[in-house]
Amino acid sequence: MPRATTHVCSDCGLQSAQWHGQCPGCGAWNTLVEERLSPRARDAPAARGGASARRARRGGGTSEGLVVPLPLKDVGATPVARMSSGIGELDRVLGGGLVPGSLVLLGGSPGIGKSTLTNMVLGNLQAGGVETLYVSGEESAEQIRLRAERLGPGALQVPVLAETELESVLQALAAIRPAACVIDSVQTLRSSELSGAPGSVGQVREVAAQIMELAKAQGTAVVLVGHVTKDGALAGPRVLEHLVDCVLQFEGERERPYRELRALKNRFGSTNEAGLFEMRQGGLVEVLDASARFVAEATRAPGSVVLATMEGSRPLLVEVQALVAPSELEQPRRVVSGLDRNRLALVLAILGRHGRIGTGAADVFVNVVGGVRVDEPGCDLAVALAIASASRGVPLAGTPRACFGELGLTGELRWVGHPERRLEEAVRHGLTDVICPPESGPGACEARTLREALGVAVPRRGSAAAGAPAGVESEEMFLSTLAGLPEAALGP
Ligand code: TYD
Ligand code: MG
Repeated sequence: MPRATTHVCSDCGLQSAQWHGQCPGCGAWNTLVEERLSPRARDAPAARGGASARRARRGGGTSEGLVVPLPLKDVGATPVARMSSGIGELDRVLGGGLVPGSLVLLGGSPGIGKSTLTNMVLGNLQAGGVETLYVSGEESAEQIRLRAERLGPGALQVPVLAETELESVLQALAAIRPAACVIDSVQTLRSSELSGAPGSVGQVREVAAQIMELAKAQGTAVVLVGHVTKDGALAGPRVLEHLVDCVLQFEGERERPYRELRALKNRFGSTNEAGLFEMRQGGLVEVLDASARFVAEATRAPGSVVLATMEGSRPLLVEVQALVAPSELEQPRRVVSGLDRNRLALVLAILGRHGRIGTGAADVFVNVVGGVRVDEPGCDLAVALAIASASRGVPLAGTPRACFGELGLTGELRWVGHPERRLEEAVRHGLTDVICPPESGPGACEARTLREALGVAVPRRGSAAAGAPAGVESEEMFLSTLAGLPEAALGP
């Protein structure tokens, strides 16, 4: 009987019948992945007809076995019909809804709410008369039912299949031909043709490839659920990113109710969009006016600043909080959540050099409240002002006050995208006098440099009231002295 599988080195491409811990070709460790031999390699003539038929379907013409390219204008383009998931935020992130025949990879850490979200989507579709199928390799049918009971009557109508064998799942898919199907999760299915354990690279790739082939052929929209590792990468499923049409990431902290859904890749829409949800007793609820909520929750204490940020095409006001405290460690702590660590390092350096606020001997903690993640340069100013306000122990002047802007290495404040929409959002929530870079728009409090922004927003303690000299401000002096950087030594 011919061999059905081979082991391929993912570094050098060497093929071996046997698995080796170290590749005999290039010497790399742990790179051999088991793969199914394609039918073409086993049985060449039979497969060739299939391939040219497939090519013809895709738009390339064939004449007597010769492949002829087509000008793009002659390629038939049927408009994509989309199925609404019944959840507005999800539809927006997907670019308008699920596309029939498409493959969506939904990643997120355990317990974040992937099963809840997908169950709700299928429930909505099923209630709207669309045929669906929920395949679970993780939970038993009873466990899924218990969750569905919390989600309402729609979710209870979804047909479930608790199965881990790929071949059985494919049979069921072919027999039921659902319009939408969820595989929860892709790491728990295994093909009996490969010997690798479920979740191994070879298995995950094989499972996804087989499901994709069937889904594209019968027009089923498939959502593959995948787990991410502790450091946030889509482990295992990462190998699927190039294969699927859309990669969604579900983020948030388990202890907090807010969840953010982002598109990392989307063949049918923008990757800029993000949706915000809240985990409640009856499932996930869309947070429609997140800005209002975050502004109302802002503490207005020293170290708190409202940032007018952009979540894709949508403006959002979030609170950025900072705490600066004398450190007892040789290497003081720099702890961030919801921001990039390197950006914090940059902001601290600029603050020290151009704002004369040294934090070399202090622990600095910065947090974007609510578990939101901010991934844009426009957050620099908010981080700087929050740290300055925490370090000086004074609240922002005119708080709650919004700001945005990128900091340049020479201490200048740089223009960022969509200033008018950020300003509009701030004004809509009662925040005027937004501190922002020059040319941001009418009604803003524009500052050209970090120094100017600090002058407007974080007055030195006592200087406004009593006109005291700068030397008396306690915290800042304390921290600067500890850092071995007396204020006078820090630039002009
Ligand atoms: P789950 O969707 O199972 O997470 P994942 O599939 O990503 O691992 O659910 C995550 C958590 O959500 C779980 O701890 C229970 C909680 N939850 C609610 O708070 N309310 C609800 O209505 C449901 C269904 C779950
Ligand atoms: Mg789950």
